[in-house]
Amino acid sequence: MRVNGEHYRSIWIDESSGVLQIIDQTDLPHRFTIREISDLETSAEAIESMRVRGAPLIGATAAHGLAIELGRDASDAALDQAIERLLETRPTAVNLRWALDRVREAVQGSSLDRRAARAREEAILICDEDARNCEAIGESGLAIFEGLLREKKQGVPLELLTHCNAGWLATVDWGTALAPIYKAHEAGIPLHVWVDETRPRNQGASLTAFELREMGVPHTVIVDNAGGHLMQRDRVDAVIVGSDRTTATGDVCNKIGTYLKALAAHDNGVPFFVALPLSSVDWTLSDGLAGIPIEERGAAEVREIAGLSDRGTLERVALFSSKSPVANPAFDVTPARFVTSLITDRGVCEATRSGLAGLRAET
Ligand code: MRU
Repeated sequence: MRVNGEHYRSIWIDESSGVLQIIDQTDLPHRFTIREISDLETSAEAIESMRVRGAPLIGATAAHGLAIELGRDASDAALDQAIERLLETRPTAVNLRWALDRVREAVQGSSLDRRAARAREEAILICDEDARNCEAIGESGLAIFEGLLREKKQGVPLELLTHCNAGWLATVDWGTALAPIYKAHEAGIPLHVWVDETRPRNQGASLTAFELREMGVPHTVIVDNAGGHLMQRDRVDAVIVGSDRTTATGDVCNKIGTYLKALAAHDNGVPFFVALPLSSVDWTLSDGLAGIPIEERGAAEVREIAGLSDRGTLERVALFSSKSPVANPAFDVTPARFVTSLITDRGVCEATRSGLAGLRAET
């Protein structure tokens, strides 16, 4: 996708230096900073501090971090320790384990001196596949949006609502929930996106709005509590979100607040779509509420807010007293019964065990 008209991925290897690069998302939308990832610790730190975030990008970064570490020490002990370190960075997105398992499996048959190169190949493959899969999600979602548009008066734009950032910055390219939006925009479908700001870290206001603006997609940022009101007034034709982990039965774990949007959508007869690559499915789980670990993040994310001051400096300010305790669960689970369809890289299915199993069987 594009920034200032130039094509970027969210993670790449610089051709001349061979060094891994990321866009530091903690500086967006005010600064566009590219950072180098040079060792295991910088990759783990980038995930932990959310310089990179979003389920597929977390997996891609971890895969590259592991490959870099194997270049330093390719022993089994180093492999296990690096995986352990990377796994503890963020517990909810299942792509992290999925990507690390893939790299582990890829290097297992290789001699020690080939391991780093093999791991790097696999990490590159994971990135390329993710970009392709997200584009495929875009194609599947486009067909749904075309159907929704046919139900509207001619020339009236499709009104979509999204939560958090499930765009190209959350993946390697294209995004999950935003991929169908980009495809529809490219196809000339008139549309407008309501962007939930997504407290506490404001990934909607700072990242989704940034992406949509750069791609020329009409959008409006709203506070998280506005979505229900807009749905009651027929100003939302569909909700589309991403997923950090989807169970084999179709329960969806995504950024905190997603569940409330699903409830409001259900009450108002608004279709609620979840877009995800199959790498975000945890095939071992049947019950999202019982089985998915919900990341609890620090109090500062709730107590403080970051932004650009009048002086042009990036600053953090306190919103309330540090004496008030804070709880900060980062994700919630939307039960499958509230999900209209899952839009995946292998096509669209019902949020049910048989729906997902059908897509998996086709691979
Ligand atoms: O905490 P984050 O910013 O990593 O959360 C991201 C989300 O919840 C996305 O919606 C999710 O990863 C799916 S997007 C590809």
